[in-house]
Amino acid sequence: MKIAISSDHGGNNLRREVMSLLDELNISYEDFGPQNSDSVDYPDFAKPVADGVASGKFDRGILICGTGIGMSIAANKVKGIRCALVHDVFSAKATRCHNDSNILAMGERVIGPGLACEIVKAWLGTEFEGGRHARRIEKITELEG
Ligand code: RB5
Repeated sequence: MKIAISSDHGGNNLRREVMSLLDELNISYEDFGPQNSDSVDYPDFAKPVADGVASGKFDRGILICGTGIGMSIAANKVKGIRCALVHDVFSAKATRCHNDSNILAMGERVIGPGLACEIVKAWLGTEFEGGRHARRIEKITELEG
């Protein structure tokens, strides 16, 4: 599995924690920054991750900003992206089982690194259930036109 990851300035610290976790888990990833703490615009950093997942270059993406909200809104504008904003382990599993989410968004100002890492592990380790949920995903795809 190959992951694309980025944040804005509000998510820099948590992004580093998540990258350390991915290193520990031996999961390969590409870091799309930012590489310093300057204030940046989150859509600029959501785009390469969302485009990379939508094109199939990456299997999944992880986006982090202060709240996770801006990143998730931006990523979900890209065709083929199902980005889930998640701040608990139950939702991390549910959005994989039911929504086949391909990007996980989290907010550094909302949760701590311990919970965030548990969420990442649950999200990466849970398979899509398919069946009736696949029909619903097809209907989401139809909404994209
Ligand atoms: C940046 O201040 C903040 O707006 C951003 O990190 C994010 O929370 C937006 O949704």
